Amino acid sequence: MHQESEEARSGLFVKTFGCQMNEYDSEKVATLLSSDFRTVEDPKDAEVVFINTCSVRQKGEQKAFSLLGTLKDLKRSNPALVIGVGGCVAQQEGEAIIQRNPDVDFVVGTHNLSLVPSLVRGARSGLRRQVAVDYRDEWEDLPDAFLPQEGGDNPLYSVRALVSIQRGCNKRCSFCVVPTTRGPEVSRLSEEIVREAALKVRLGAKEVVLLGQTVNSYGRDLSPRVSFDALLRKLSEIEGLKRIRFTSPHPADVKPGFIKLYGEMPQLCRHIHLPLQSGSDRILKLMNRNYRKQRFLEIVDQLKTACPDIALTSDIIVGFPTETRADFEETLDVMKQVEFASSFSFKYSVRPNTTAKEDFSEADLVDDAEAGMRLQELQAIQSNLSERINRAKVGKTLEVLVEGRNKKLSSLMRGRIPENTLTELQGGSPEPGELVLARIDRASPHGLKGTIVSSEAIDGPRK
Ligand code: 5AD
Repeated sequence: MHQESEEARSGLFVKTFGCQMNEYDSEKVATLLSSDFRTVEDPKDAEVVFINTCSVRQKGEQKAFSLLGTLKDLKRSNPALVIGVGGCVAQQEGEAIIQRNPDVDFVVGTHNLSLVPSLVRGARSGLRRQVAVDYRDEWEDLPDAFLPQEGGDNPLYSVRALVSIQRGCNKRCSFCVVPTTRGPEVSRLSEEIVREAALKVRLGAKEVVLLGQTVNSYGRDLSPRVSFDALLRKLSEIEGLKRIRFTSPHPADVKPGFIKLYGEMPQLCRHIHLPLQSGSDRILKLMNRNYRKQRFLEIVDQLKTACPDIALTSDIIVGFPTETRADFEETLDVMKQVEFASSFSFKYSVRPNTTAKEDFSEADLVDDAEAGMRLQELQAIQSNLSERINRAKVGKTLEVLVEGRNKKLSSLMRGRIPENTLTELQGGSPEPGELVLARIDRASPHGLKGTIVSSEAIDGPRK
């Protein structure tokens, strides 16, 4: 990046809550604004603050509003500061966000990101209370402006490139607010996906993470239809792309052809994030999850057969309305049988516009303290499983894709093994984007530590 342009551009502070789709949207916002704004780490250095919100659980929503609260003083000392709110809460609440917090200059929905530059310009020229949350198709609308420019100032591209393949969701999980905030499922054209992935690889990415609410239902709405497997195969032809990941597939959409890819496609990382949500058939039915415990375990067996070292990770909800101790134990049973390498686990949170909110009364809710204890118990079991799985890697030499500096210990670099486990590296001075071989020395429930034994970039397809 050129020094002059760094100084000429104003500061943009972006805070992202929630999922990788939100991270991707934040990247788009930074890219759209990059000719006038550079991203800064501290809101004090910013002329524009953009908060990308998440409404999946109440806690995340609260965090966004408390951040907005802390910006009050900044706005007092710099009345020209522009504050924008985007993401799922913005989509859902619209104008109400400004009523609740008059410091907010604009609210932009999940399908209106192409409007951000004009909303910022409007706010800077004195327009207040701008709200843009009407659904519109941004993929047809400015796709190139969202993409980093070859030879340009690219604020946020990295070793790991996020690429959205679909938006919205047609599943109707009873607990989930996403279908109302992101709309129905729409697949992006596979040519566009490949073009974006290839561009990001040319700009230095080595890994692509495909994003969608249920990635393995990709392409059913396209004509001609394109399967998720076919999309993966097309992506695997991109030269220089070393690793492919995706998040998240839905168990009900797992097909045999997809499982087979794990044994066939060297770029496909031996990791799958497969949300379980619950191990109890009764609760799965109430969640409207369209699979049962036995089917989930069968899929896992098939995956392990196709790829014996595969790491499985998951999302789990405890304390869904009416969940009994016995239901919860079914969930623990699946966890132990599968041996998840890690999991994200949450206490059920009542969300607006969900069928679970309508279908259950106060009396059906699991006592909060009880749900808290279940969550703790589950997380303790997970921690043991994770530690055991990570320990089994000590002494092995594994391939690590170097991503950058360790956040806490800035002298150490960190990266990920194909299983996605975070790995701190010592020895040598690898650059982000390099594939190195590291001998694993230590393990904790959260990650690995290793020593680089070959600092040469490993070229060609992975073995
Ligand atoms: N309460 C608790 N957890 C939820 N999730 C989604 N909606 C809720 C809710 N209402 C969790 C699911 C999902 C992850 C992204 O968030 O586990 O997979």
